[in-house]
Amino acid sequence: MEFQLKLPTRVIAGAGSFSRLGEIASELRFRRAFLVADRGMEAAGYAARAAESMRARGIEVFSFHDFPESPDSSAAEVARDAAASIRADSIVGLGGGSSLDTAKAANFLLTGGGHMRDYRGYGKISGEMLPMIGVPTTAGTGSEAQSYCVISDADTHVKMACGAPGAAFRAAILDPLLLISAPRNVIAQAGYDAISHAVESFVTRRRTPLSQSFSREAWRLLDANYLRVLRDPADAVAQEGMQTGAFLAGLAIEHSMLGATHACANPLSANYGTAHGVAIAMLLEKVVRWNADARYAELHANLPLRLDELAHAAGLPRRLRDRNIVESDLPKLASEAAQQWTGTFNPRPFDAAGALEIYQWAY
Ligand SMILES: [Fe+2]
Repeated sequence: MEFQLKLPTRVIAGAGSFSRLGEIASELRFRRAFLVADRGMEAAGYAARAAESMRARGIEVFSFHDFPESPDSSAAEVARDAAASIRADSIVGLGGGSSLDTAKAANFLLTGGGHMRDYRGYGKISGEMLPMIGVPTTAGTGSEAQSYCVISDADTHVKMACGAPGAAFRAAILDPLLLISAPRNVIAQAGYDAISHAVESFVTRRRTPLSQSFSREAWRLLDANYLRVLRDPADAVAQEGMQTGAFLAGLAIEHSMLGATHACANPLSANYGTAHGVAIAMLLEKVVRWNADARYAELHANLPLRLDELAHAAGLPRRLRDRNIVESDLPKLASEAAQQWTGTFNPRPFDAAGALEIYQWAY
């Protein structure tokens, strides 16, 4: 099998590594840094700590908090305008997936102009993107390991994956102590999303022996630590396991893409505003059963049962009916799911009929 492996992101991990942000930014020659940090990070004082760490190295820092939990193309334009107005030469994303994806999206627009939809797919940008550092504060999307951002179109609500080599962070700081203050429902949803990344990426058509080794180890770490962090978010060892697992799952996605779970989840978020991790929780176990792929057994002897146990213990919904999804909408949702790029990588050929069957099982 032919494949390539490129790891563009330097990883600095460990409890307390957040304090090295200024040092790393200085090494990357940041001078005017645009700090994208969600409001939670601002309230918790982490944004101020990030700014202090960089200012101590003589870097000018401009903080930006004005973006929603699920960033769309207009939020990216607001971030672009703010970064352009201060002539930023570098970007730091601090927070959950929304902070990291807003940072990347602003970088596309700053570098290449135009609209986010122009960058849908991979490599649709010319010019050197600004250097970025990612500091994730949830164990979830794995955006810190990827050269893609996921941004929804403000007009159509369709989720777009936009990727380019320059959209990978130059450095990612993985400090488990940053994960501890997240609310329980955020830990539950983000962690289940990371689990789905390990599971989906393991069997995709684009998988490689190396991407599978990332998926396998991601699953091992996430499965072992998910319930531990839900029981005790202050357990830094378990948080470190989740953080490393989410990162490895993100790395797996970078090399193998995702599958039908994400294809079916996106229309629920677009039409009902269902949080990504919640949509994933209602679908993953059904997609694993629908795919009936023998390779799953390598992760767990009874993977659907295990996934159901984890979702149940995390208090996540497992049926669409529990989230006020209207049954008569399922055919429309299924035709939208069939249009999702990510579905093309699913191991079992996936189309609208398959999506409808999955939705019906999940209803
Ligand atoms: Fe996801």
